[in-house]
Amino acid sequence: MSGLEVNKILASIILSLIVVKAIGHLGNFIIDLNDTEMLQTAYKIEVPETFNNVSGSDSEEEVIEPISLILANGSFDKGQKIFKKCSACHTYKKEGANKVGPNLWNLINSPKANVEGFAYSKELAEFGGQWGYEELALFLYKPKEYIKGTKMNFSGLKNVQDRANLVLFLREQSDKPAPLP
Ligand code: HEC
Repeated sequence: MSGLEVNKILASIILSLIVVKAIGHLGNFIIDLNDTEMLQTAYKIEVPETFNNVSGSDSEEEVIEPISLILANGSFDKGQKIFKKCSACHTYKKEGANKVGPNLWNLINSPKANVEGFAYSKELAEFGGQWGYEELALFLYKPKEYIKGTKMNFSGLKNVQDRANLVLFLREQSDKPAPLP
């Protein structure tokens, strides 16, 4: 590299430094540094909502994990313990009584709203379909979102393992438990 070229490069670096400085001064000129209110707004950095909410549970796109893959490794005993959350309103034994909610014997793969003598809400009675494994798990995640207008007053089970364990327990409450998915 010749001396002349080095000079050119140095000159252009110096020139760009001068330009940057000048722009800086110009910026300060436009934004009056004594005007504190203006300073604040000029330098305020808005952190987008999503940054605070990365691990938040109420992000818009809610992904509800399926239980099928972990069902086979679920725990019947833990499921039975979780059923305590339901037992104020439900029985699960054969020919058990209806309480606030219907008896849950032989639930898996049975048609929805199928228990005799229980007065279902119109919304559940007309919902249609069967209580397949995933449908039941989705319902238990947030009952009032899965069936809008259901009269089951239960906020839901957020933890996918809890749902799997409970469904595994309910599966056994049948003369002929449905095959695992
Ligand atoms: C506060 C009382 C209450 C609690 C707690 C509750 N349920 Fe319910 N459940 C109901 C009522 C009432 C209905 C009927 C809903 C309707 O008709 O809209 C119902 C309906 C159901 C149904 C539909 C049954 C059918 O025949 O179609 C299932 C399944 C169910 N509940 C499971 C559960 C499980 C599992 C739990 C525990 C995690 C639970 N519920 C907790 C009151 C409750």
